[in-house]
Amino acid sequence: MGEVDPAFIQAIEHRPKIITGLEAGGIPLIDLSPLLSSDSLEGYSKDHPQAILDLVEEIKGACRDWGFFQVINHGVPYDLLRRLQTAAKEFFDLPLEEKRKVRRDEENPLGYYDTEHTKNVRDWKEVFDFVVDDPTVIPLSLEPDDHRVRVMNNQWPEYPSDLRELCEEYSRAVEKLAFNLLNLISLSLGLPAKRLNDFFKDQTSFIRLNHYPPCPTPHLALGVGRHKDAGALTVLATDDVGGLEVKRKTDGEWIRVKTIPESYIINVGDIIQVWSNDRYESVEHRVVVNSEKERFSIPFFFNPSHYQMVKPLEELVDEEKEPARYKEYSWGKFFSARKLSNFKKLTVENLQITDFKIAK
Ligand code: OGA
Ligand code: NI
Repeated sequence: MGEVDPAFIQAIEHRPKIITGLEAGGIPLIDLSPLLSSDSLEGYSKDHPQAILDLVEEIKGACRDWGFFQVINHGVPYDLLRRLQTAAKEFFDLPLEEKRKVRRDEENPLGYYDTEHTKNVRDWKEVFDFVVDDPTVIPLSLEPDDHRVRVMNNQWPEYPSDLRELCEEYSRAVEKLAFNLLNLISLSLGLPAKRLNDFFKDQTSFIRLNHYPPCPTPHLALGVGRHKDAGALTVLATDDVGGLEVKRKTDGEWIRVKTIPESYIINVGDIIQVWSNDRYESVEHRVVVNSEKERFSIPFFFNPSHYQMVKPLEELVDEEKEPARYKEYSWGKFFSARKLSNFKKLTVENLQITDFKIAK
């Protein structure tokens, strides 16, 4: 990426503290093995094995107190992730002209790009995006009354030749984990395990291969600027370099997430915040880069279908005691608005769920 372009420079209050080796603990680590030995989470009953009930309690605490947690014994074959990480590195090692053959544009938001902006500052990274269900349908325009749709198709590079197959196989494996987590979260809200599943028919989930090159000025730029994930849930695989920071709910401090071999980092997105009527919050996070090592990560963004209207779940609101805190909004329109705003620098703050908050 060469010389540091002013587009990458964060405002002073958003620049990271570069203290290496400091990793405050506290982000919950959850062992999902009870899930692997249980047949199904169908229904919510006190008859689930104790190990599952305990797991649901752990998930509840983690979602409520942190919005972030890490999981082990999650069922995604480690060898598959390792092979995908190798292929991702091979892709990003290609010359820029080669990568740009599968470049995203305003017509097709999938593929390669290196100019993403978060909150109007350029991120120190390059990415490759693909959808989990190919093709995926999203709204054609942001106009509320325009019901025309756009069909998005994945674009695959010629090299490495196994990238497509690995991405597709990985999608299926991590999707299974995402549904398991969704079911646990549903139980943790006192709802039937499968309560949220139907929202994901015709899902708009996508996976991103992230590459953060070494950065000569890691104290001025960020790999990804502070943001909240807009979807339901994020299931993130990283390498062992580290750099993800989470804003701790108790005091607003930026906490570095430890890298734990063969684990996934999970975070609640804006949609679960709205569905749960603020019982769980989508927490701000960012990625700090460093001057020596490149870093790779692979988030799976678990998103409902574009035609879903998002609002607090009926079971969790009560007109008197617990009124809905959000007006309903169209996921498809919200998603498309965000995709457009990330594409280039705009002069206004992008769309946030707080725009749908009902004043107390
Ligand atoms: C993201 C994100 C974290 C990471 O892409 O939304 O937060 O560690 N990534 O790459
Ligand atoms: Ni994120």
